[in-house]
Amino acid sequence: MAITYRAESKTFYLCGKGLTYAFFVNPVGNLSHLYCGAPIGQDDLSYLRAKGRGSFAPTVPGIDSPELSYHYFLPELGFYGTGDYREPAVLVENAGGDRLSNLLYVSHEILPQKPLINGMPSLSGGETLVVHLKDGFSNFGADLYYTVYDDASVIARRAVYRNGADTPVRLRRAYSFSFGLPGQNYDVMTLYGSWACERNIEQIPLHHGVVSVDSKRLTSSATLNPFMGLIEKGSTETHGNVWGVSLVYSSSFMLKAEGTDVGETLLTGGINEFDFSWKLNAGEAFETPEVVIAYSNEGIGGMSRAYHDVYRNHLIDRRHVRSPRPVVINNWEATYFDFDTDKLKAIADAVEGTGIDTLVLDDGWFGKRDNDKSGLGDWVVNTDKLKGGLTEIINHVHAKGMKFGLWFEPEMVSEDSDLFRSHPDYAIGVPGRARCYSRHQYMLDLTRPDVRDYIVNAVNSVLAENSIDYVKWDYNRNVTDIYSVGLDADRQSEFAHRYALGLYDICERIVHGNPNVFFEGCSGGGARFDPAMLFYFPQIWTSDDTDAEERTKIQYGTSIVYPLSTMSCHVSAVPNHQVKRMTALETRGHIAHLGATGYELDPTLFTEEEKSLVCTQVEEFKRQESLVQNGDLYRIDSPFEGNFFSEMIVSKDKTEALLVVYRRLAVPNAESKRIRLAGLDPEKTYRIEEMNITVKGSTLMNVPMPIKYRSMDFYSAVYHIIEV
Ligand code: GLA
Repeated sequence: MAITYRAESKTFYLCGKGLTYAFFVNPVGNLSHLYCGAPIGQDDLSYLRAKGRGSFAPTVPGIDSPELSYHYFLPELGFYGTGDYREPAVLVENAGGDRLSNLLYVSHEILPQKPLINGMPSLSGGETLVVHLKDGFSNFGADLYYTVYDDASVIARRAVYRNGADTPVRLRRAYSFSFGLPGQNYDVMTLYGSWACERNIEQIPLHHGVVSVDSKRLTSSATLNPFMGLIEKGSTETHGNVWGVSLVYSSSFMLKAEGTDVGETLLTGGINEFDFSWKLNAGEAFETPEVVIAYSNEGIGGMSRAYHDVYRNHLIDRRHVRSPRPVVINNWEATYFDFDTDKLKAIADAVEGTGIDTLVLDDGWFGKRDNDKSGLGDWVVNTDKLKGGLTEIINHVHAKGMKFGLWFEPEMVSEDSDLFRSHPDYAIGVPGRARCYSRHQYMLDLTRPDVRDYIVNAVNSVLAENSIDYVKWDYNRNVTDIYSVGLDADRQSEFAHRYALGLYDICERIVHGNPNVFFEGCSGGGARFDPAMLFYFPQIWTSDDTDAEERTKIQYGTSIVYPLSTMSCHVSAVPNHQVKRMTALETRGHIAHLGATGYELDPTLFTEEEKSLVCTQVEEFKRQESLVQNGDLYRIDSPFEGNFFSEMIVSKDKTEALLVVYRRLAVPNAESKRIRLAGLDPEKTYRIEEMNITVKGSTLMNVPMPIKYRSMDFYSAVYHIIEV
């Protein structure tokens, strides 16, 4: 049984693959965290209460016993005002204006199937524990949901808040979870970045007080991904205890690790409380986004594999997650806005025979859109540019047996557009007050049902009237001027979360409403790369930086949480458009093929030799695609730490693997560099053709293999490791 409750000790044990998670109803009646880590016995763990610094701590309400202070326990859902000074998960303003709560255990149930969240993406799953908590004075309550998995070392959690009073209350903070770790011997790992340099890895020591990552941008953002890792000191990529929290959410979020005054570590987070409040009427409930807590005793790599497994098995659309993906030629870096039907036809003609199977027409096909200053919102084909409309180019592409994809930016509007001229109020902003531009555009107010209907109708009409196989859904700015003419004054602080709900609604109606269309996510590069978006988009454009050298870092950082198959990675032209760097086509292929691959260059400029290399590359990619989609990732050399990048992907049955090696800069008369392979079956015998060796897995994983790097900058090579 995955979930057990022991009445003697009032303890819940959640036992999944490689993990036990335990908490209990403490002597006061609150829910207290006990353990999250490697599998343990179902012992009475109530002795685990903290022993330090109890003096002068407040008692719990109504019981004058310092022994029972909150100080000694880590909360499963921290609350405010009644003796616990640590970061609360929930802060509710009651009808009388006080902000106190004391959430006590009422009952629990174990459901055979995990219920999905209403209106928000969430993981599928089986057996699920629901614990009901209530404040007996205010009648405010919370339901905590927990699911464990037998195929990934994770727990999925969320909270639902309920107003059981007969007057409205105001949620001023409504996080999804709290839990804790013993001691403070941890580093905090975050994924930070910006446009064209997304998901860099930062590791900083936990300290007394709060370390946080957040977004106030109405999107999960390139600035900080909604993920936090807790790395026990001394742990590495391959060894040691590592925990992760990954939020299934696309709007402003907050994750916190607090080094508490007792010497323990508290983790909490969810919807960002900054500029947030939510009016909850009598009898209403508020659902929070899901958090996925991962644990590994195989270091950071083990945590990543847990996330890859659970997101592939329980989040991403089953119809696509393991199916061959389109191999795309995207015209953006080939033409930018300067294209017409003939140019697009020439691009399609030029890739004929290469194995590239989908032409994606990027920005500029609609409205008046010759640059990024106009046209957004007018999803009507521009027949000045595209003679014969979309039909002409679609027919041309389809006649070759290729598929056709189209770019949209559904959430946006240009000031210079018919949509804005007729509905200026559709744009987010305070009427009469000058708005901020970003990329010359405004954002549409997705909190309004009529605006959402406009978007859904506009996009769905294009999809209904044209034979479109693929959509790239872009989102190119962050919010400013947060205000909706559709919300009452006392609900304006609900905007950020209502935007997320509006976004999920239009995704539901457009993405799930067009099951025969393949949808790719995008956001000014990879600025909205989060688990909630993966629920709708099986792959997301990883970055506008397509330089192979830069991509080693961006893709390595992204893989900390997200499976390789979710990263759209394109081979682009040299000199690279972002950094002007020259790299070999082979290298660009090797790096771009560590994801959902494609090409983003002008193929009409291919030499015969280049075209033939692209044919070989696509063939090679198709051979390795199943490994990329289904295999286990073992990161070997981090591009953040030195001159090398190398990764292995090993099939689940360990019968085949791929090793990709890369050296950034050539070194004259270089020292020997060796790589110890990982993830293989020690008992199996493998053939590596490129090395001309046949050896045991144990040999490859214990005796580092010498690698030959050709004397050139940005050199890469691929090794196929096949069981014989
Ligand atoms: C963003 C995307 C690009 C491209 C442009 C088009 O920057 O990341 O891939 O689609 O928009 O304007």
